[in-house]
Order: sequence, then C-alpha cells, then structure tokens
Amino acid sequence: MKALVLAGGLGTRLRPLTHTFAKQLVPVANRPVLFYGLEAIASAGVREVGLVVGAGAREIRAAVGDGSAFGLRVAYLPQETPLGLAHAVLIAREWLGDDDFVMYLGDNFIQDGIDQMVDDFRAGEADAQVLLARVPDPTAFGVAEVGADGRVTALEEKPERPRSDLALVGAYVFTPAVHDAVRAIRPSARGELEITDALGLLVGTGRVVRATRLTGYWKDTGSAVGMLEVNRTVLDTSRARTEGEVDDSSELVGQVVVERGARVLNSRIVGPAVIGARSVISDSHIGPYASIAEGCQVRHSEIEDSIVLTGARLEGVRRVESSLIGREVMVTSARRRPVAHQLILGDHSQVHV
Ligand code: DAU
Repeated sequence: MKALVLAGGLGTRLRPLTHTFAKQLVPVANRPVLFYGLEAIASAGVREVGLVVGAGAREIRAAVGDGSAFGLRVAYLPQETPLGLAHAVLIAREWLGDDDFVMYLGDNFIQDGIDQMVDDFRAGEADAQVLLARVPDPTAFGVAEVGADGRVTALEEKPERPRSDLALVGAYVFTPAVHDAVRAIRPSARGELEITDALGLLVGTGRVVRATRLTGYWKDTGSAVGMLEVNRTVLDTSRARTEGEVDDSSELVGQVVVERGARVLNSRIVGPAVIGARSVISDSHIGPYASIAEGCQVRHSEIEDSIVLTGARLEGVRRVESSLIGREVMVTSARRRPVAHQLILGDHSQVHV
C-alpha cells in the first residue's frame, strides 16, 4: 500500500501567511501540521509516500526531504494548478501504479491517526474506505449517507441542505478502481475535480465504499481558528522540558517546553506553552497555549493562545491573544504621543484593535 499526501492548494483562508509559504507548513506546537499526518501514515505501516506539491513545493521539500526522518520514502509529485483533490489522483496515476493507496489531505489533523481506517480496509473487501465524523455544520465538508451495514449509499460535496451530519474527514483508502472514476467525473460548481464525486460514482456503479467512524479529535486546519484549536489540543499533550536557559527571576508554571538555546529572562510562562530554539523572552508573560517558534524575541509583552512564527518580534505589546503572527513580523508599541496605530500590513492581513 502507498500513500498520496496532498500538500498543494492555495490556502486562501490562511492569507497572508500563505502568500509566502504552504499552509501545510504552518506550525502547531512548533511543528508543521503536515508532519503529524506523515507520522500517522508511518504509524499505519505505509512507507511509500507521494507528496503532491504546488506553489509551496520548494519549502515543503526543504522541510520533509526524502522522508527518512519519518521512516518514509517520499517522492514529489508537482501539481501545476490546484484543480481539485481528484485531479491530484489523476496526476499521480503513474506513480501510484496498481497499488491500493491511502489519500491524506495535508492540512488535516487527526489525533488518533488512520490506523483504524487502514485496518478496516485491510479486513474487508471494499473498493474504497472513507473516514467519517459527526459535525455540527456539515455544509463545509463532503457529506456521506451510510446504511446499517456500514456501506456508504450517497455522497455530496459541501451541500446546502445536508442529508446527514457525517462529514468526510481528509483521509481515504482507495483501490485502483478509483482511477476510472477520477477520469470520468467533470468539474464541480467551484471548478474542481472533487474526490467526493469520484466516490459518488463508485457508489453509483455498484462498487463497495465502506465507512470507518472517527470518534477522536479531528480538525481541518485551513483557517486561523482551526490552527489555534489544533495548537491548543497538541499543547495539552506536551510534557514539560527545559533545554534552554531560565534565569532566577523567571517562573515556569505547568507544561512548558523551553527548546535548546532559548532564553527566558524575568518572565512568567504558564503552560501549556512552547518557546522555540534561540528565542529570547524577557520581562514578559507568556501562555497558556502560546507556541513561539525559533529565533523570536518577546520583550515587555503579554501573549497567550497564539502561534508566533520564526523570527518574529514583539516589544511592549500588552495582551495579544488568539493571534497568528507570521515570520519576521514586528509588533511594537507606539513611542510617541498621541498613541496611534501605525500599520504596515501585507495583502490580506487582519488586525483587530
Ligand atoms: O477537510 C476535509 C474536507 O476536505 C472534506 O470534507 C471535503 O470533502 C474535501 O473536498 C476537502 O475539502 P476542502 O475544501 O477543505 O479541501 P481543500 O481545498 O482545503 O484541500 C485539502 C488539501 O488538499 C489541502 O492540504 C490542499 C490540498 N490540495 C487541494 C486542492 C484543491 C491539493 O494538493 N491540490 C488541489 O488541487
């Protein structure tokens, strides 16, 4: 069995971060969200991964390399234009050969992994296996209807009036039967070749599509709110560790990770929180639920429930919360009177003052 991991796409809901890098590399608890998916694939016993990459290809290659750090062998499959999830299967046709394969959406975080779904597929004789979770608002997802025998009877992508509350989670197992289906479907109203439509065609032509129910935590991290929620969930499972320097006038409370070369000076850090390598925190209050990446500087500031990316600087900023702060961003307080907001923001930035 192989795995096809989708890390292309545009990431429009995470702009401006995704103007300069792939959404699958946005870190949760200081690790790219994509890494958790690659670990889930390795845990399910799959070794060969085809990574579909688009505009963010260069940085994804730099982060994942040959996959050996995950116990995987990774091949890169460039997708020039993000024409849909089923399009990604089309362009991977040759690499996939006639193997069964897991398809995993690189922006999905599935806390319990995909072992159960892969086991269910291996135990049965289905042409495809999907992973379903109950959601309060199914209109944002692919939605499935399932018979009493666990067989999927109908599917619809982002329906206005959902006929069930069972959403398709971003992980599937396919047999080579899917290849005819992805060739036969036409673009949807949003102009994409939908994998949900390919699954619908399999069902409609009498193929067996079975469902595994997911009961654990899962999130599509495509939005800032989703990223912050996953960040909190992962931090909750972290264990305290101090590899950097914490001076005598600082206090660490609860599950705090201070990575190598980081310095915490005259500050209070309330876990769960992580301070990345070589970051300097001084005269500040951090956390809970703050992930500060490597090489950041936080001085005379307060921040919680936020993700701060590599090399960002916060100086004299009181109470930042529920925020996503990009690489090398600088946030400082106004020095002159009258105090005014002075903003230099990239396209699609969002500020709530
Ligand atoms: O998160 C689960 C949902 O994922 C399912 O419920 C839906 O049925 C499924 O269509 C999908 O919906 P999204 O609209 O959230 O998919 P998104 O465009 O965010 O793409 C998912 C991942 O695949 C993301 O990591 C980007 C990547 N991608 C996307 C497209 C359209 C590609 O690599 N190539 C593409 O052409």
